[in-house]
Amino acid sequence: MRKIKIFDTTLRDGEQSPGASLNVEEKLVIARQLERLGVDIIEAGFPISSTGDFEGVKLIAESLDGPTICGLARAKKEDIEAAGKALEKASSSRIHVFIATSDLHMDKKLKMSRDDVLAMAVASVEQARQFTDDVEFSPEDASRSDMDFMCKVIEAAVNAGATTINIPDTVGYAMPGEIGDRVRYVKEKVPAANDIVLSIHCHNDLGVAVANSLSAMQAGCDQIECTINGIGERAGNTSLEEIVMALNMRQDVYDVETGINTRELWSTSRLVSNLTGIEVQRNKAIVGENAFAHEAGIHQHGVISDRRTYEIMSAKEVGWHGTQLVIGKHSGVHAIEKVLERRGYDLNRDQLHEVRARVKDAADREKTIEEEDVVAFANEVLNELTSEEQVVSLEEFSVMTGNGFTASATIKLNINGEEVIGTGTGVGPVDASAHALQQILSAQFGGELELSDYGLKAITGGTNALAHANIQFKDQAENRFRGDAVDKDVILASVHAMIKGANRALNHRIRHANTPQDKGGSPGQDTESKPQKTAK
Ligand code: KIV
Ligand code: ZN
Repeated sequence: MRKIKIFDTTLRDGEQSPGASLNVEEKLVIARQLERLGVDIIEAGFPISSTGDFEGVKLIAESLDGPTICGLARAKKEDIEAAGKALEKASSSRIHVFIATSDLHMDKKLKMSRDDVLAMAVASVEQARQFTDDVEFSPEDASRSDMDFMCKVIEAAVNAGATTINIPDTVGYAMPGEIGDRVRYVKEKVPAANDIVLSIHCHNDLGVAVANSLSAMQAGCDQIECTINGIGERAGNTSLEEIVMALNMRQDVYDVETGINTRELWSTSRLVSNLTGIEVQRNKAIVGENAFAHEAGIHQHGVISDRRTYEIMSAKEVGWHGTQLVIGKHSGVHAIEKVLERRGYDLNRDQLHEVRARVKDAADREKTIEEEDVVAFANEVLNELTSEEQVVSLEEFSVMTGNGFTASATIKLNINGEEVIGTGTGVGPVDASAHALQQILSAQFGGELELSDYGLKAITGGTNALAHANIQFKDQAENRFRGDAVDKDVILASVHAMIKGANRALNHRIRHANTPQDKGGSPGQDTESKPQKTAK
């Protein structure tokens, strides 16, 4: 059967989702789960864009020996060098080079002529080949590019040594028929393209990324680029679980196979959601909370007599497991490891012991511990600040709130050994605490830190549920800093999350006080603009 390669870009395009950002440890945890899932290629990051991306690609390249590890690079010398360096230790590496070929991008963004773009594409593929034999080339904004010019660039890239040519629908503009026609056109006009792997990369701005990828695959693409839960720039990318299950369930139509172990889909989805903080919508195909739920009586009746009446696949096939493992204060590290393993976490001994300590502490306070709680503790541990990063810690905190009463908060922090007090009022206790914290931070360090995002979730049901707070600060240069914390007290969880975010912001400021800014930029940005990466 024809084999379709699954190229996962959760850690690169997915991580460009607004609000998503992962530290190096979290990236490695996800990469290991992607390996278990059976993806062929992991695009682990964009090494030139930030130190975090460089380190993430490097660590994943050194640690995994199953899938090919890929790093993204613009068609620029320094980008390709950074990617080559980050991938040095990979057992199988790929450099993915891109440059835009649409008139709009060339005129307005790159300010380059067609000839210059063609020359840069060739030079960059040749340069990338000096680092690895596996080079992918993408004509960015392909779906809005002049077909013949795009084919000319593709032909030149193949002749320069590209082994995969990817056709990106960068802005999610194409329709399924058009993208299929474009792929067929390339195969006809560029005979050499039949000797290399053709790939498809779709965005979901019009909600047809999966349909477009299927159409391109039928037209001859043997590689599909996608992300877990479909996360990615703007409306996201082709969703891995959807495309894989479509190919899997409808072999009668497509007659192809992938190397994906579908039973790992659900845990991978939840892992990525937990670590990025991006929730999976309830009615999301394959992995949404409601994907296998039946509300209507007629449906329930049908499913009870034969599941196939209203279900085309079984929940088991995608790895849903209905039963929760029971955890109590006497549960040992082994039980915790088991829970986390089936949720895709691969923690080291120290991290497991730390999770166990937090479970025991919560259970001692009469909290019934459920699987989701253990996962929340694992996220917290993975996301912990190192002792060097801990510039600010909480000494004391009090809050007054009530009905018909302005909430006020007082916070005492320890900043590098010095005690500082801040006060604030607000529409509620969390708002008041944020203002108290901001008062201290602006007085101490100058410049505003805006609380740009705040989320609070009860992890499990009941009034004694643990609360998971997730915040994001934004500084004046638009750098974003995430923080999250778990506590049985919602206000304390919020304050701890804000202090974590503040520590990250301050660390960033200290690191960058005397050093030049991180270089690079996200795809789709002006080549000279600053990266919009979230620092973590
Ligand atoms: O959407 C896009 O064009 C990209 C490229 C870097 C392939 O992500
Ligand atoms: Zn993309």
